Amino acid sequence: MTRVLEVKGLRKAYGEIVVADEITFDLACGECLGVIGPNGAGKSSLFNLLTGVVAPDRGSIRLDGRELVGVPAHRRARLGIARAFQIPQPFAHLSVRENVLAAATFGAGLHGEAAEAASREALQRTGLAAHVAKPAGTLTLLDRKRLELAKGIASAPKLLLLDEVAGGLTEPEVQQIVALVRELKRSYAVIWIEHIAHALKAVADRVMVLHFGRKLLEDAPQAVLDSAVVREIYMGIPADAAA
Ligand SMILES: Nc1ncnc2c1ncn2[C@@H]1O[C@H](COP(=O)(O)OP(=O)(O)OP(=O)(O)O)[C@@H](O)[C@H]1O
Ligand SMILES: [Mg+2]
Repeated sequence: MTRVLEVKGLRKAYGEIVVADEITFDLACGECLGVIGPNGAGKSSLFNLLTGVVAPDRGSIRLDGRELVGVPAHRRARLGIARAFQIPQPFAHLSVRENVLAAATFGAGLHGEAAEAASREALQRTGLAAHVAKPAGTLTLLDRKRLELAKGIASAPKLLLLDEVAGGLTEPEVQQIVALVRELKRSYAVIWIEHIAHALKAVADRVMVLHFGRKLLEDAPQAVLDSAVVREIYMGIPADAAA
């Protein structure tokens, strides 16, 4: 598989706080990399570095072979990086369709029929076709999460960054998001930050564990969840005490 994303030696510190400590990984289209780690581990910071909201101290981020460090955030969006935020903040008074159209227009730089077509497809794929005319502010949380995903894919990305898109949902709703992300994964390279372990297990090909900005482990989901490293950082059980 051709690599969509190659991250090498990415580092960022705020004074003493290191949020990315020489992080290296890569990702292909059709793959999902899960990201876990305790609060403050540097998960959202990684997304800030990838999207260009924050500049790294050093390291490299290549999208389809092109270096992105130094490229501003709005250019990166057009080059193919989309992010679904943990707390959806749509334009509440605009319709679902208008929200997605705005993402296609301002995110991807599409216009006219091309923007309309990208929006229609995004709404269809995320199961929002029946709600297009509703003001976004009237949607349920599940549908607002779907709208986050629709906005992301309407900008025709190569890399889709999902920040806790299953957070706050009921179990049956989590299952619906899992099914949707599994379907979307076929078309994009996906990085999914998520605390809900079984959701990641159902979708991710690999899971990366971050702690104090360091990548401690990257492996198959079950291997990571069963690992001494994860038991130690989540439950305080020392790795050398594990059976
Ligand atoms: N602009 C900043 N200036 C100083 N410290 C920052 C800044 N941004 C983030 N941090 C710190 O960096 C660390 C990593 O934050 P980050 O938001 O990446 O964590 P996270 O893994 O996403 O956590 P959570 O699970 O709580 O969302 C935290 O200690 C945070 O306080
Ligand atoms: Mg975070």
